[in-house]
Amino acid sequence: MTAHLKKVELHCHLEGAASPALTLAQARKYNIDIGAYLRDGVYVWHDFASFLQCYDKISEVYKTEEDYALLTETYLDELAGIGTIYSELIVSPDHGKRIGLGADAYISGVCEGIRRAKAASGIEARLIVTGERHFGPESVIGAAEYAAKAQNPLITGFNLAGEERMGRVADYSRAFDIARDAGMGLTIHAGEVCGAFSVADALDVVRPARIGHGVRAIEDADLVRRLADQGTVLEVCPGSNIALNVFPDFPSHPLRRLKEAGVRVTISSDDPPFFHTSLQREYELAAGIFAFSDAEIDEMTRTGIEAAFVDETTRQALLARI
Ligand code: ADE
Ligand code: ZN
Repeated sequence: MTAHLKKVELHCHLEGAASPALTLAQARKYNIDIGAYLRDGVYVWHDFASFLQCYDKISEVYKTEEDYALLTETYLDELAGIGTIYSELIVSPDHGKRIGLGADAYISGVCEGIRRAKAASGIEARLIVTGERHFGPESVIGAAEYAAKAQNPLITGFNLAGEERMGRVADYSRAFDIARDAGMGLTIHAGEVCGAFSVADALDVVRPARIGHGVRAIEDADLVRRLADQGTVLEVCPGSNIALNVFPDFPSHPLRRLKEAGVRVTISSDDPPFFHTSLQREYELAAGIFAFSDAEIDEMTRTGIEAAFVDETTRQALLARI
């Protein structure tokens, strides 16, 4: 139904895009037992906290620069195969440090994967460095400092992910100040596990151009109006929201209501194999369950490019392809 449409993805966590097959091969290569987290080709978790734990465990089987190049290249090749022309990957240099690889080697592997994929298909990609709330404000500041100092043209954004119930946005404001001063695009996970107040917090404290998810803003009509008035872009990941039980089913998901209220929305897959989804499926859901026309889907894709953390020349070249 959407095979003919060009696609864009602004919200996908790199390790969250690792296919179970690749993860299993990696685990065997390093003789790591991940049986509690990957069974019968399916990642095992049962709620948001156990999802984050599973995500962190799975990430540990990617150990070298080449592992990260392969992971990145594999996912971008998949995206290019369904007509995706631009991808922003959420990466965690901190994770590189934690596994003993080091932040620079981690990022260097990811960038090599981007180069290989671009050479093969022309797909453009940029990186959003993220801090993880559950590793605490100091580690998030460290991630922002890393992004600010990296001088890497592919690192163009900063994000805050992880356990949304840990602390308030204000606890992490210093990290966003550092990233903003360095000219990074800002986005932040909010309104996913926590309610509308977390989206209002994000707008008040961070003033981001985009919000990761943000869908629970629907609980507050004034906030929806504020998002629409300010032109804040929501990176909406419907399959993720249903898998994590943010909403009980697709008919209750507010994607269409948000769009009709004038909020700028785009579609992404978040951590696709963890949530039994893919960018392809998210576009199919937009056309099917959400009943958006091709023109409306193209509008969301165009919104994604308009809100991309990318230089103006690349943005115009991408827009010309929709
Ligand atoms: N890290 C990976 N996926 C995430 C999500 N959906 N929310 C918060 N942190 C995440
Ligand atoms: Zn996310």
